Amino acid sequence: MAGRNMSRRGLLAGGAVAAGGLAATGGYLTGRGTAAGVPEANAAEQPRTVPFHGAHQAGVVTPPQTYGVFVAFDLRQGTTRESLGRLMRLLTDDARRLAEGRAGLADAQPELADLPARLTVTFGFGPGMFEKVGLAHQRPLADLPEFENDRLEERWSGGDLLVQLCGEDAVTLAHALRLIVKDARDFATVRWVQRGFRRSPQSQPPGETQRNLMGQLDGTVQPDDPDKAVWIPGRPAWLKGGTLMVLRRIRMDLEKWDAADEAAKEFSIGRKLADGAPLTGGRETDDPDFAAKDVAGFPVIDDNAHIRLARVEDPALRMLRRAYNYEEDITEDGVVDSGLLFISYQADLARQFTPVQQRLAGSDLLNEWITTTGSAVFALPPGCTETGWIGQTLLS
Ligand code: HEM
Repeated sequence: MAGRNMSRRGLLAGGAVAAGGLAATGGYLTGRGTAAGVPEANAAEQPRTVPFHGAHQAGVVTPPQTYGVFVAFDLRQGTTRESLGRLMRLLTDDARRLAEGRAGLADAQPELADLPARLTVTFGFGPGMFEKVGLAHQRPLADLPEFENDRLEERWSGGDLLVQLCGEDAVTLAHALRLIVKDARDFATVRWVQRGFRRSPQSQPPGETQRNLMGQLDGTVQPDDPDKAVWIPGRPAWLKGGTLMVLRRIRMDLEKWDAADEAAKEFSIGRKLADGAPLTGGRETDDPDFAAKDVAGFPVIDDNAHIRLARVEDPALRMLRRAYNYEEDITEDGVVDSGLLFISYQADLARQFTPVQQRLAGSDLLNEWITTTGSAVFALPPGCTETGWIGQTLLS
């Protein structure tokens, strides 16, 4: 069905990539050549920078870049609303500079800032932060409960302050990450860092649904209007234009998945592996027919298939999913620890994320192969102007 995907126009309207950005900065990869076989239009379509300023923070409805680094901090004892404000001013200033291809304020490697590579730097506040700086009455979210089948580890969970860095270039991200953690040192300690990756625009045209490490097309069904599903309309007032983010680290048992046959894999999701079409037929973007029965009278899409349990009919109540694959370690025996950084953005956790997660937790057929080992939630304040800073609406 047309409009199932958040349209490119919708993304642009959301302030993700201003049309002027393309004109002002030149096409992505322009003058540097393009990878063989990549249609010129796709590479040229990508601007080098994503505007930092605007009503909303970049990095949410921005088409996902190839690399994502997510770092959570714990505020040091004694941090106040004022000192957190100072930190956010500092971080905002460096984030805007880097996103624009300029060196950070105390940048020891200014040369590395030259290639912004669609860098976005996005900030969020965890539930614990509000109490610590005396703003408990403004707290808009709480930690998620531990769901059935969760095996949460402290080292991948929680955090007072999130910085999400996304970009098309790992060197750009490493430089940005160093600058950001140096800025934060006096105010906060690093709780965790999680790194993820996707296919690059050189290998797959932007806008196409990507495959996760289980080989499935992941990200087909999304909300169609971020103003309804993603951005907070006005309560609490300081979060107007912001959103709530969930990050769940989900390990995939790929050895076990390898052993399953194609039919079992497709049955667990309710979609075809080859093209992502619903098992009831059609194309990837066609609506599944949840009422369809097979010749024996059983539902074609099983009662516990992932897409049936995750289904939300009202597009305004859907979460915006932005998945990054991860691959951490490899044992001596050649077993890889890999999975998905499941990330969703929504205006309302209780109405959008939690009911879906609750349905999936107990019954999802996919649970045979996946285990959630990390969980964190953050409130992402609205964007800011050239003279403002992220978090100003709460902290100033
Ligand atoms: C490793 C874990 C997961 C994998 C491999 C996975 C994979 C998939 C796949 C292949 C689809 C079908 C294509 C699409 O619409 O994107 C899908 C749909 C979906 N998933 Fe997941 N998913 C995972 C975890 C989750 C979690 C934790 C949630 C939310 C709590 C979630 C929510 C959804 C939603 C809302 C849909 C769209 C359902 C629809 O309306 O058709 N998924 N997922």
